[in-house]
Amino acid sequence: MKVAVIGCGTIANAAHIPSYMKNPEAEIKYFCDIIPERAQAAVEKYGCGTAVVDYHEVLADPEVEAVSVCTPNNVHSVIAIDALRAGKNVLCEKPAARVYSEALEMQKAQHETGKVLNIGVVNRFNDSVNRIKEYIDQGKLGTIHHVYVSFRAHRSIPGLGGAFTTKAIAGGGALIDWGVHYLDIVMYCCGDPKVKTVSGETFSKLGKDMENYAYTDMWAGPPKYDGTYDVDDSVTALVRTEGPTITVNGAWAQNIGEAEQYIDFMGDKAGIRLHYGSDFTVYTTENGALVSYTPKFTMRDHFQNEIDAFVDCVKTGKKLPSHIDTVIVTAEMMQAIYDSAEQHREIVLE
Ligand SMILES: NC(=O)c1ccc[n+]([C@@H]2O[C@H](COP(=O)([O-])OP(=O)(O)OC[C@H]3O[C@@H](n4cnc5c(N)ncnc54)[C@H](O)[C@@H]3O)[C@@H](O)[C@H]2O)c1
Repeated sequence: MKVAVIGCGTIANAAHIPSYMKNPEAEIKYFCDIIPERAQAAVEKYGCGTAVVDYHEVLADPEVEAVSVCTPNNVHSVIAIDALRAGKNVLCEKPAARVYSEALEMQKAQHETGKVLNIGVVNRFNDSVNRIKEYIDQGKLGTIHHVYVSFRAHRSIPGLGGAFTTKAIAGGGALIDWGVHYLDIVMYCCGDPKVKTVSGETFSKLGKDMENYAYTDMWAGPPKYDGTYDVDDSVTALVRTEGPTITVNGAWAQNIGEAEQYIDFMGDKAGIRLHYGSDFTVYTTENGALVSYTPKFTMRDHFQNEIDAFVDCVKTGKKLPSHIDTVIVTAEMMQAIYDSAEQHREIVLE
């Protein structure tokens, strides 16, 4: 299967490209980036494909069956929609888009074309997350009434003043960048319950005074002090669903001293803490005593799982749990959190 990678930056090089290279069915025909050196560097590094700067060139090639969209969020919807309309199957990085309305446009194009549109909610291919889902589906936790989500870092604002902190490019900050993963895990593990109400507040506090933001390291590039910082660096929210109530506390930067990155699934029979990106611990009772245990298992590379599943679903037509139809719910929820924060009131979703 001939594929193309559009956007040859961090996530393309860390995950998509190496995973396609290891997939026996896939062959990368194009590396596309508006920065020509990045596309050319990929051709040289991986020893295959052609470097192009304009993604329309990729879409015009009838041999290309599938594309990965690994660009900043502002062009997710336009590239994904153009690709679908050109008859390509698409794996678009998370978040689906900057705002819910763009995600809806993407879903509409998917429905009209019938091509695959999956979003890079890679945790749906994570072995820890899938084991938790299995525990929940088997009723081991009983009824889950509450899920507590914490994705708080001490100092982790990415590329201050760059794409990640510019609302017009990213659509938002800590919530849309990190929260999307956590909220998606909750929805997936809890069977994608219908969301009823959303109340949230977002804050842009620690990064706003860019010159005085104290930090020890910075991912996504060095600060651009003449750049833009107009996104949330922390968020809190309460989401009522037809299943559990979800409380959310997230931050790229907060004066808390150390990172707190986990999800607590609280059931009446047992609870589970997912140590984000790692294993999980089960808390329950046994013979009248309190017990806890941390299952040991081999964690496969979840990006490889995601790419393998994408290539397979293009061939088989199988609908994956990362399909736009499921991910759209998280896009709506995040939009409602942002709307609630802006209007300082609860949002009721029909
Ligand atoms: N799944 C994950 O855990 C994960 C992790 C990191 C990033 N991401 C997502 O991946 C996306 C990219 O993030 P990144 O950190 O790799 O960013 P990046 O800036 O390192 O790379 C993006 C690349 O896209 C290129 N680009 C921009 N517009 C383009 C266009 N119109 N056509 C072709 N190329 C274009 C840029 O020149 C750049 O090289 C974001 O949406 C981000 O949220 C996901």
